[in-house]
Amino acid sequence: MPHHVAIIMDGNGRWAQRRGLSRVEGHLRGVSTLRQIIVHASERGLSFLTLFAFSSENWMRPKDEVHELMDILKLFIERDLSLLHRNRVQIQVLGQRDALDPSISALLSRAESLTFDNEGLRLFVAFNYGSQDEIVRATRLIAVKVADGLLDPEEIDGPCFAEHLYTAGVPEPDLLVRTGGERRLSNFLLWQCAYTEFIFLDMLWPDFDEQSFDNAIAEFNQRDRRFGRLGFFVGT
Ligand code: IPE
Ligand code: IPE
Ligand code: MG
Repeated sequence: MPHHVAIIMDGNGRWAQRRGLSRVEGHLRGVSTLRQIIVHASERGLSFLTLFAFSSENWMRPKDEVHELMDILKLFIERDLSLLHRNRVQIQVLGQRDALDPSISALLSRAESLTFDNEGLRLFVAFNYGSQDEIVRATRLIAVKVADGLLDPEEIDGPCFAEHLYTAGVPEPDLLVRTGGERRLSNFLLWQCAYTEFIFLDMLWPDFDEQSFDNAIAEFNQRDRRFGRLGFFVGT
């Protein structure tokens, strides 16, 4: 089992459009998939799962769709928080919180505080998340510490930088899965994916299921991760 799996849940809109449904129907189906995959990953004993739910660029979609996505997030937390809590899932939200509607940030904080002591799967929900923003923010936090005399520029290295990202203390993803057919990161975990294995699937997110998750893990287990060294069979 990889320690940390990250997923870009893409393709909800196309799933709906292909069936002559509205995009929001696709997002609702996407939430069912998400619920199912969180429970499955937790039963499989995965330690860390990070899901890309809403990007800092998704605000540029039509107002109605943005509203619907916000409503769906609220509905998800209200309906499924107790299920996740029962499964001992610990929830943490990654992304910029300030700009969100207070009713949403309050719900996100409630999900985090309720599940804070849970010792099962650690679930990170990237919401209003953009990796470039995250890197700029980390740089600013470091600059302020240097300006205040709390940090010596000589001490700034990779691990120090990583401690200023939203994902501070979280191991880098071993595997990233993107559904929906696009072969790109769309501003997700740019720093953290330096040595992550990527699996791009044409399958749309609402069609992803437990079997697809297990298949991705099996494919991951076939990969030879070298981290710049020589391969395992060549010699270290
Ligand atoms: C992913 O599905 C969900 C979000 C980005 C919020 P999309 O809405 O991007 O679906 P497609 O890519 O248009 O099919
Ligand atoms: C990435 O999907 C964001 C999420 C899945 C939340 P997008 O649909 O926003 O990505 P692009 O626009 O195709 O790159
Ligand atoms: Mg998309």
